[in-house]
Amino acid sequence: MIHALRGTRDILPGEVERWQHVERVARALCERYGYVEVRTPIIEREELFVKGTGAATDIVHKEMYSFTDKGGDRVTLRPEATPSMVRAYVEHTLEQTLAAAKIYAMGPMFRYERPQKGRYRQFHQLDVEVFGLNDPAIDAEVIDVAWTLIEELGIRHADLVINSVGCRECRPVFMKALVEALGDDVSKLCSDCQRRATINPLRIYDCKVPADQPIIDRLPHAIDYLCEACRTHFAGVQAQLDAWNIPWRISHRLVRGLDYYTRTTFEILGATASDGGDEGETLGAQNALLGGGRYDGLVKDLGGPDRPGIGFAAGMERLVLALPHDVVAAVKPSAVVVAIGEDARADGLRLLRELRRAGCIAHMEVEARSLRAQMKRADRVQARFTLIIGGDELAKGEVTVRNMATGEQTAVARKAVVAHVRQQLA
Ligand code: HAM
Repeated sequence: MIHALRGTRDILPGEVERWQHVERVARALCERYGYVEVRTPIIEREELFVKGTGAATDIVHKEMYSFTDKGGDRVTLRPEATPSMVRAYVEHTLEQTLAAAKIYAMGPMFRYERPQKGRYRQFHQLDVEVFGLNDPAIDAEVIDVAWTLIEELGIRHADLVINSVGCRECRPVFMKALVEALGDDVSKLCSDCQRRATINPLRIYDCKVPADQPIIDRLPHAIDYLCEACRTHFAGVQAQLDAWNIPWRISHRLVRGLDYYTRTTFEILGATASDGGDEGETLGAQNALLGGGRYDGLVKDLGGPDRPGIGFAAGMERLVLALPHDVVAAVKPSAVVVAIGEDARADGLRLLRELRRAGCIAHMEVEARSLRAQMKRADRVQARFTLIIGGDELAKGEVTVRNMATGEQTAVARKAVVAHVRQQLA
């Protein structure tokens, strides 16, 4: 027996309906806000992520599925969608062809992480990106898409955290202050943080090791080092969120794990076990439902024009986990055709196809079975109606329609039965 790879999973009936629901809601929402779908390859040149996601990130450093293909090229299974979306935007000059450079994508991503609840090696994202707009109102709009998504999915525990990490002018000032504040305390931090202190000190804010917390709590806050333009921008984002009644709070720790962020960063956190959260399933330690931010230098860094960008990605596994339990039921057939005898079976198969072509979800045991076995099966799949054809019905040109909930049976003319079922269902 060959099992699925560690960190990958099959999405089976029973769960897949929840995925389809999330996908439907997400798609409808994106389209309402003016985003159009783009589908990029899941495999790209390794260089795209080294330059885009950033060589100093954990993703590029430790988690990429990269290999040399048979042609000798270094390729990578995408760990995130943003660099691919930027590449597609630049490669196809989408700013000239699209009415607005607002795009979204859905699909699998790959990161070689230690699997746990809500964290997998193959996972899926809904990715939303906007290019070419600087106004803080667009930051707020992107956050609104994220917030509304969570609301429309019925996920009741959602905590929106925002921050600003400054621009290429003011961030170095903050970084200098951070390194100074760390000073000799670096040696008191965990070994991961000691490594981060040399490669990417910002990552220290992500540390969850209890002993490190008092030191991290004393570190400087990015928003205290913003230049005038970044401060005004961040105030504009907050004002617009307030105007739309979207509740937010600032998290000084929200510096995000990717190199490209400038100015606004945000995350929406779901319920952890300690929050109770009986509305839906709780998430474990991996409680970020989605995250994103502005990346004003990335398009240019990847060889495109100097255009700002902002977006977010939601982890679809986490959305599915956090969805209330009763939100989607499996699709149940509207009709099951039960046929007794060879002649009835031939007519049953005809009726089955007529029902399906009329838009009904219809089943029939294709292999000959006893009446009892067929009725039992109709019960198990929770059909609304069974349409019974036996010798008597054939002779009279009728079908017996049984309402499975009430047990009521009606004889309906064979010719009228499809219309009858449709009417009953409506
Ligand atoms: P990210 O924070 O790395 O950002 O990932 C976004 C979301 O993807 C996370 O909040 C989480 O829900 C989900 N996620 C990440 N890794 C895993 C995993 N191993 N298993 C399950 N879910 C996971 C980005 O990817 C950026 N590209 C977001 C962005 C778009 N920024 C601007 N535009």
